[in-house]
Amino acid sequence: MRGANLLWILLNVVLVLADDVRRPYELIVLRDTDTLKCTHVALRDTQLFRALPDEGHTTSKFTETPGQERISFIAREEERVWARAEALCGDRHTWDFHTLTLLQSASNSNEAEQIVLRPTYVWEDPLPLEVEPLITSGESDNRVDLVFFADGYTFEEKGKFIEDAFRLAEDISGNQTFYTVKPLLNFWAAFTPSKESGIGSGGKPKDTAFGLYRDGTELRGVYYSKPEVARTACFSLGDQCDYPILMGNDPLYGGLGGEFRVITPSLANGPLVLRHELGHSIIRVGEEYDGGFAYFGVNAAHNTTLDAVPWSHWLTNSSASASTAHTHVHDHDDHTHVPKAARVERSVMPLQDYAWTMLNASAPWSTTFNSSGTYAWHLVRFSLSGLPNAPDLLVELDGKDLGWVPREDIGVDRWHYDIKVNKTLKGGEHEVVFTLKNKTREGEAQLCSVEILEFGDESEFVSTPGHYSLYPTFSEKNETSYRPTNEDCLMRIVTTPNFCKACTEGLWYALLRRVTLIDDLAVGCSPAGERTLDLNLVPLAHLREWPVGVEESYEVTWARDGIEVPEWKNQTSVADEGGALGSYAVKVKYWTEEVRVDPDGLLESEAAYVATTRCA
Ligand SMILES: *[C@@H]1O[C@H](CO)[C@@H](O)[C@H](O)[C@H]1NC(C)=O
Ligand SMILES: *[C@@H]1O[C@H](CO)[C@@H](O)[C@H](O)[C@H]1NC(C)=O
Ligand SMILES: *[C@@H]1O[C@H](CO)[C@@H](O)[C@H](O)[C@H]1NC(C)=O
Ligand SMILES: *[C@@H]1O[C@H](CO)[C@@H](O)[C@H](O)[C@H]1NC(C)=O
Ligand SMILES: *[C@@H]1O[C@H](CO)[C@@H](O)[C@H](O)[C@H]1NC(C)=O
Ligand SMILES: *[C@@H]1O[C@H](CO)[C@@H](O)[C@H](O)[C@H]1NC(C)=O
Ligand SMILES: *[C@@H]1O[C@H](CO)[C@@H](O)[C@H](O)[C@H]1NC(C)=O
Ligand SMILES: *[C@@H]1O[C@H](CO)[C@@H](O)[C@H](O)[C@H]1NC(C)=O
Ligand SMILES: *[C@@H]1O[C@H](CO)[C@@H](O)[C@H](O)[C@H]1NC(C)=O
Repeated sequence: MRGANLLWILLNVVLVLADDVRRPYELIVLRDTDTLKCTHVALRDTQLFRALPDEGHTTSKFTETPGQERISFIAREEERVWARAEALCGDRHTWDFHTLTLLQSASNSNEAEQIVLRPTYVWEDPLPLEVEPLITSGESDNRVDLVFFADGYTFEEKGKFIEDAFRLAEDISGNQTFYTVKPLLNFWAAFTPSKESGIGSGGKPKDTAFGLYRDGTELRGVYYSKPEVARTACFSLGDQCDYPILMGNDPLYGGLGGEFRVITPSLANGPLVLRHELGHSIIRVGEEYDGGFAYFGVNAAHNTTLDAVPWSHWLTNSSASASTAHTHVHDHDDHTHVPKAARVERSVMPLQDYAWTMLNASAPWSTTFNSSGTYAWHLVRFSLSGLPNAPDLLVELDGKDLGWVPREDIGVDRWHYDIKVNKTLKGGEHEVVFTLKNKTREGEAQLCSVEILEFGDESEFVSTPGHYSLYPTFSEKNETSYRPTNEDCLMRIVTTPNFCKACTEGLWYALLRRVTLIDDLAVGCSPAGERTLDLNLVPLAHLREWPVGVEESYEVTWARDGIEVPEWKNQTSVADEGGALGSYAVKVKYWTEEVRVDPDGLLESEAAYVATTRCA
């Protein structure tokens, strides 16, 4: 198919990037999963989508609004997206909901049939936005763009907004998390003044751009009340807005994932919430922590069969498997494929409680759980807010003080704590107790979550960082799935700044689907009359501004009239005699140790040029 594409290009146009000839079209639909009634449709052309199947690419997921589904569909032909839109939402002339479209033409070419959407729904004025670059690496049509939108920042607080947004962008891309893929990303700050400063509480938004608010006063979710304003704002930025981030002007923990990433610039938690939510949205993976409900993507296995483990090529010890082989020792002549089972690290979660409860000094909060008494050690994992000092709270397991101390400088913000106990829990019932000692903290002190995990000894459970195996994760219903590492990934441990290798590889796939390695192939004539071809590559490998300590390289191969030119190998600027006519093609191959397999050929890009006139 690649070859066919290239031929088409050579015959029809002078210069094209071969990854995709035209911009594809994108449809986004929000609808009720019960009534199937649509509430929002957006249609536009969008930046390239590599390895796009002919029938288009669909993703569908539930949003944070109960009973609401978000369907995204990308296809090469405009007719296809219109057809899908009408299949999902009915005849377009009956649409009476929020509709955004930048497509002017109708699905058929009949002028009289030109699309007429009800004027009030076609386009509402987007918010006035002042967009400033934070960290940018290239044109938006060949980058993945993340945009911070301001909520609860007044006109006078614009400087604070830019500062907050820059701090977060820098935190997640400067030297960790997204730093190796930074040349594929742009970060922008889109400011619009809010009438009031800060975000709402008690379920009531303030008069702000997107109406962000907390349900109560406790530090938990931050919700938005003006989704259509947010959708329109992002839509109005076109290619410049791939992932909108609504940032509420509040110093403490809070956020939300889903259609929009909602965050606060909390010093302790802002970057944690942001990179975790971006992991969900960009890589399209579920949780790795226990007690969630969605486990999917490159970091989740639901079956220990080696073939069903997405990170099987990252396993530290791929021979630590095949317990099934023993049962087949006599089947020497049987060549049928025996599925190999991967080794599973031995652990269990006897207690999990997302309590989200306000603590009081009159009665402690406590709960009990049973242990099997067969594990070598255990971990007490919990998160708290509103508890800045060690004497404020006592945390006990079976009457023994676990010696909790708050994170330094955490103040009243939320934080996560792990207390490891290298002892076997006895078989039978155990009790964990949280006692608020300081009455004046009532109304603020909160126990967000508590969990007990038990682990086998070193031969049964490898807890070493960098070890890739199958680690059990337990859902809210205590269903088991598996993750690649013990605690290497921020999708499990939000206080960890990096993804594991399986997620990082998935990140490259996700980004390189929307970005081609070739920004431009500029062809010209030099003053000396030579034909010059200058390849502008996305600045990875030796083209990076700063090295990132990862093994990587670019390989560049040129061909003239279909024959490779060895002298031009690995050059980004070449010159040919000006009199030559014919075709030039260049193929770029990127290699990084962060990607071990590339089934869709996303780490390769091609461009071609046909010279039909001579350089004078
Ligand atoms: C990145 O920089 C921050 C702030 O200087 C520092 O706290 C963090 O440890 C650094 N991370 C890495 C991986 O070097
Ligand atoms: C696990 O996955 C393999 C391959 O997809 C399948 O053949 C097998 O039936 C699955 N096993 C279970 C227990 O679901
Ligand atoms: C790999 O796994 C096999 C089978 O469990 C084990 O015998 C071997 O010691 C392991 N090797 C390493 C390096 O862990
Ligand atoms: C989860 O299931 C395991 C057994 O599969 C059990 O030992 C554990 O106690 C259960 N945990 C909870 C929180 O129900
Ligand atoms: C105090 O906290 C305990 C444990 O969470 C709870 O059972 C009790 O109802 C609370 N009392 C008051 C007065 O809120
Ligand atoms: C622990 O096990 C005992 C005996 O089976 C049972 O009576 C008790 O309810 C269990 N406790 C919990 C918290 O599940
Ligand atoms: C527990 O203690 C033993 C003996 O000191 C040690 O070998 C082992 O590594 C410890 N395990 C953990 C998980 O810390
Ligand atoms: C109790 O908390 C208040 C703030 O709410 C603080 O001023 C006071 O020092 C605390 N008391 C103790 C004994 O730590
Ligand atoms: C071109 O670059 C690739 C990747 O760095 C390298 O493996 C290869 O040896 C280079 N070839 C030449 C001729 O420089």
